[in-house]
Amino acid sequence: MQKLAIVGGTSLRGEVQISGAKNAALPIMCASLLTAESLHLTNVPDLHDVATMRKLLQQMGMSAQITPGEVVFSGDRVDTLEAPYDMVKTMRAAILVLGPLVSRFGEAMVSLPGGCAIGSRPVDLHIKGLQAMGAEISIEHGYIHARAARLKGARIFFDIVSVTGTENLMMAAALADGVTVLENAAREPEVVDLADCLRAMGAKISGDGTDTITIAGVDRLHGASHRIMPDRIESGTFLVAAAAAGGEIVLRDCRADILETVLEKLGEAGARIVSEPGTIQIAMPHRPRSVNVRTAPHPAFPTDMQAQFMAMNCIAEGSAMVVETIFENRFMHVQELRRLGARIDVEGNTAVVHGVEKLEGASVMATDLRASACLVIAGLVAQGETVIDRIYHLDRGYSHIESKLSQLGANIRRLK
Ligand code: EPZ
Repeated sequence: MQKLAIVGGTSLRGEVQISGAKNAALPIMCASLLTAESLHLTNVPDLHDVATMRKLLQQMGMSAQITPGEVVFSGDRVDTLEAPYDMVKTMRAAILVLGPLVSRFGEAMVSLPGGCAIGSRPVDLHIKGLQAMGAEISIEHGYIHARAARLKGARIFFDIVSVTGTENLMMAAALADGVTVLENAAREPEVVDLADCLRAMGAKISGDGTDTITIAGVDRLHGASHRIMPDRIESGTFLVAAAAAGGEIVLRDCRADILETVLEKLGEAGARIVSEPGTIQIAMPHRPRSVNVRTAPHPAFPTDMQAQFMAMNCIAEGSAMVVETIFENRFMHVQELRRLGARIDVEGNTAVVHGVEKLEGASVMATDLRASACLVIAGLVAQGETVIDRIYHLDRGYSHIESKLSQLGANIRRLK
């Protein structure tokens, strides 16, 4: 089990290159199942989850030519329409092969994803949507077995906003017979990036980025090239790290237009932010002020940034409320932060964080992806050494985070 050791107390200075977005790459890789031709992806992040998804697609017969930061998928020999439990249990985003498989091949056998640390994470909306499009679905021995001669366009209303639910059904509708309208759809930028890629492949999609997406099904999709958008959560994570540790950093190859609520909150905390096309510069010359955050679907404050802001609030001036409205168990970083001396009271989905002057380094354990990022930020500001265990969680969503932070002056190293 690898660990990260961080000696806190240094501010961050320098430039950091932002990688491609994990949560855009994962659905877009599944879009390769929708055509027999080649899908050429660039700016693909070097992440554990991306490697897992690539292996799953290859197991299904997808060919993949891999070079650093790029992959060319060719779906002409896909012959296994199954996502087995041992793959899905480690990465729930594997559910995203369901829509493309049923849409192009008329059948899929996909393991139900188990729950995960942050919540039960059901996929009932994915299943209901496919049923509305005419798929016959049975759940047998923990697997979703879906069949459809050809999916039919339908009007589908999401009673809960679901990012991968929207993505799965958008891909399913791309080859369906007729028009599909997704209402109360997710508006996340990663949904728009997927729609951009599908349009490049010949899909007829409009309304992505709003809560109503219309997809006019076509008979087939062709090959395309697509550059994965920058990762807004990686960007936000480095911005919050600089706000908490102090200093001045520049993010390269990122986008400010998809981070509005995060930048607004950092401004409230006292950070000075200058953004130009492709770069964001942040300076935090003093101790941050604590800020209230309440998570909600995009364009509201992203749940994937909640834990990082909690770490900043731990050492900020004042008290703040952190309200998590998306997942039912996304406060597991609280216990670990308390080990570092944080003062946090939790009542249901609300945490009140009372800023303290300083945190003391200690051994802590990562429990999920964004909680591990939160502990890295806390380690950067704690006095003395913090050792974070189970950092495989971190490697799922952040490529080479310790080398990127070391380049910014952090004292951080990976313990084999
Ligand atoms: C996506 O997960 C992201 N993952 C998550 O990022 C992110 O936290 C989440 O969206 C919310 O923004 C990927 O894009 C690969 P949801 P997803 O379906 O699609 C409930 C990270 O750290 N729901 O939008 O699985 C669900 O329980 C990860 O990068 C149903 O009830 O999330 C949750 O309460 C963590 N039934 C809410 O909707 C369903 O069928 C939002 O979930 C589907 C979802």
